[in-house]
Amino acid sequence: MRTAEIGQRFLTFFEERGHDVVPSASLLYNDPTLLFVNAGMVPFKNYLMGVEPAPWQRATSIQKCVRTLDIDEVGRTTRHGTFFQMLGNFSFGDYFKTDAIEWAWELVTGPTSEGGLGFDPAKIWVTVLGPGFHPDYPDGDVEARRTWLKVGVPAEHIQGRSLADNYWHMGVPGPGGPCSEIYVDRGPQFGPDGGPEADEDRYMEIWNLVFMQNERGEGIGKGNFEIVGELPKKNIDTGLGIERVACILQGVDNVYETDLLRPVIDVAEELTGATYGDKASQEDNIRFRVVADHSRTGMMLILDGVTPGNEGRGYILRRLLRRIIRSAKLLGAKGATMERFMNTVMDTMTPSYPEIADNRERILRVAINEEKAFLKTLESGTKLFDEAVDDLRSTHRAKTQKVLSGDKAFELHDTYGFPIDLTLEMAQEAGLDVDMEGFNAAMGEQRRRAKADNQAKKHGHTDLSLYRDWV
Ligand code: ALA
Repeated sequence: MRTAEIGQRFLTFFEERGHDVVPSASLLYNDPTLLFVNAGMVPFKNYLMGVEPAPWQRATSIQKCVRTLDIDEVGRTTRHGTFFQMLGNFSFGDYFKTDAIEWAWELVTGPTSEGGLGFDPAKIWVTVLGPGFHPDYPDGDVEARRTWLKVGVPAEHIQGRSLADNYWHMGVPGPGGPCSEIYVDRGPQFGPDGGPEADEDRYMEIWNLVFMQNERGEGIGKGNFEIVGELPKKNIDTGLGIERVACILQGVDNVYETDLLRPVIDVAEELTGATYGDKASQEDNIRFRVVADHSRTGMMLILDGVTPGNEGRGYILRRLLRRIIRSAKLLGAKGATMERFMNTVMDTMTPSYPEIADNRERILRVAINEEKAFLKTLESGTKLFDEAVDDLRSTHRAKTQKVLSGDKAFELHDTYGFPIDLTLEMAQEAGLDVDMEGFNAAMGEQRRRAKADNQAKKHGHTDLSLYRDWV
């Protein structure tokens, strides 16, 4: 089943159950706590919190999301993508837990001939909040467990887990609630027995049902926070990862090989001469997946108006694009590759996002300009980096203290355009640390100089002698 069809089935299923179909918000949706939209509920936050009345009681959407915290995981696991589409059904004070669970079960296991996704019920596992973790649920989420049993999930496929796993919030103060996750067993070739508690590669999470009823307060980490009160209404917020469902239904091993990304890997093979798959090295396979994943994320970010820069959103885009370029080069690409990557990913994504068609030229221009700028310095920067590494390795001191100096890291950033994270990655690959304190000091010094320079331009330092001569 193609990705677009999975999305369509989801929307139709919930539309038939009284939900309004709401279009995806921009990735740059205005929420001061986030750089990018990272969950389907983000555009609905105020409705969930009760700050604004919701225009609908029930809604469903396919929301574009970007999460870049796991950028180093891309290509290493089977399921981490920096861009993904979250399918969601939402209730704003209308239906609650029982309906959400019953509908999820119906859609996941319903026959494909009747609009379902057709998963074998015997392969489904679910998790619920376990006992002793939440003041409202001393015995765990008994109601969720009972409902899963009722729809037909056997008790041994229901696992109780802690707040860190089965309580969802945005990572910052805001709405939150206990959740229940649906997993698909992909078979023993992917990992050990024992359900999601034992292995999350074999048991792949596809859908998270959040019973959103609390306001989360301050705190740090996934499971260490205060619950400051009840929300005005009980809501439902769910998120089904379309890429993961596609991965399983298309019978491929990981999210980078589904219909929307695989064509980029194919183009990368053609342009680099390297081969993807079982016979390739793990490092090369990761590079192919990085190229595919980042090409799509970069394209979608540019579509929504981000341009490469040195801070905030622009920095993330720059880092993604430069990782593509470096990965392609390490795979053996001789020249520019960005145009082909971008064109390929625009082709696969346009059916779902027709607005890409009107923005093709602009997207290409932004990505290609970034490539031009980086290709100019990538080689000389890499040479400088390699020399520094050789130098460190050969000096006696380096045997005990293999640290790339802050000044070198700064030079790579300032003169060669290496985002610091790229230098950190390269250093890690070479088994080195980077003197981040030294790097930050050099950055601070540069900022101070730039500020002083700006001040000078604004307030004086202008040559007034000519004027004086006149008066
Ligand atoms: N908001 C929930 C999530 O992102 C559904 O997992």
